[in-house]
Amino acid sequence: MLDWTDRHCRFFLRQLSRHCLLYTEMVTGAAILRGDPDWLLRFSPAEHPVALQLGGSDPQALATAARIGAGYGYDEINLNVGCPSDRVRSGRFGACLMAEPELVAECVAAMIASADLPVTVKTRIGIDSQDTYEFLQQLLEHVTAAGCGTVIIHARKAILGGLSPKENRTIPPLQYTTVYRVKQDFPELEVILNGGVTELSAAATHLEAVDGVMLGRAAYHNPYILTGVDARFFGATRQPPSRATVIHRMLPYIETELNAGTALKHITRHMLGLYHGVPGARAWRRHLSQHATASNAGVEVIEAALDAVHSLTAPVNPEPATRVGHG
Ligand SMILES: Cc1cc2nc3c(=O)[nH]c(=O)nc-3n(C[C@H](O)[C@H](O)[C@H](O)COP(=O)(O)O)c2cc1C
Repeated sequence: MLDWTDRHCRFFLRQLSRHCLLYTEMVTGAAILRGDPDWLLRFSPAEHPVALQLGGSDPQALATAARIGAGYGYDEINLNVGCPSDRVRSGRFGACLMAEPELVAECVAAMIASADLPVTVKTRIGIDSQDTYEFLQQLLEHVTAAGCGTVIIHARKAILGGLSPKENRTIPPLQYTTVYRVKQDFPELEVILNGGVTELSAAATHLEAVDGVMLGRAAYHNPYILTGVDARFFGATRQPPSRATVIHRMLPYIETELNAGTALKHITRHMLGLYHGVPGARAWRRHLSQHATASNAGVEVIEAALDAVHSLTAPVNPEPATRVGHG
């Protein structure tokens, strides 16, 4: 997610789930070719498994970008055919490409030939008035013929004229049954459903009909939800980490990043939602927001934020442990 799932965010999310697949922000093929690939692509080995999402419609540029991405060690290359922003449309990529299935297939084939990695596609269920099932089906036929084995489908169409990207994530109605139908019609294709999933119980329900579920905003705003993923969907038996453990696991990373010149706020902004929905949420957010922005802010800010939460949530008169469960 643009501006959200940068490498600091992904490192943080990885402390919450060992198994979920993380995605980069969308990076355009042109940016990788003309910009500073190291700045755009480097990431911590601790983030694995992680997919690089590319945007663009020039098969050769995407092929080169995919090869460079593979060299950085990404586990998957994903092509964005779902982003509705004007900026993206003027560059002829994102959701508007749904109307050019041959070109999308050409891009996919070129990326597969160039990078020795799975190439996946993220798309919508339609665009504007091109919102029939057959329209989506045509795109999927092309990309599967080109060698794409996994699609992530945001279960709402995109309105390319008139709605902002934000509105395009809420206003067009979610149509999960369309994604379920894709799985029925393309049984060999790995189908990942996306859009509006905020609880793991809802993800479990979708998994009766599709192969995977992608969480976007919920994972960012309420990241602790990810601690349930490994046991529920990957058979892990380890206890999920507490919030305090997650924070302590972040500290060595943050120290290293601060020493390398990263500002604390660039990391802590992704951690603001950690206490979402539980006592201490406001104290945590407030402390970080107020103190992590100082130019010399260090890990002591995080430790103090944690103290602020715990001073609020520690029981005043804890019950003796021997009495737990009696009566
Ligand atoms: C701030 C923000 C940035 C996003 N950037 C991208 C992006 O770069 N690539 C992409 O495929 N989707 C992007 N999305 C869309 C999400 O991946 C997802 O499809 C959408 O939010 C619906 O899923 P959700 O309801 O679980 O959030 C972005 C969403 C948000 C909120």
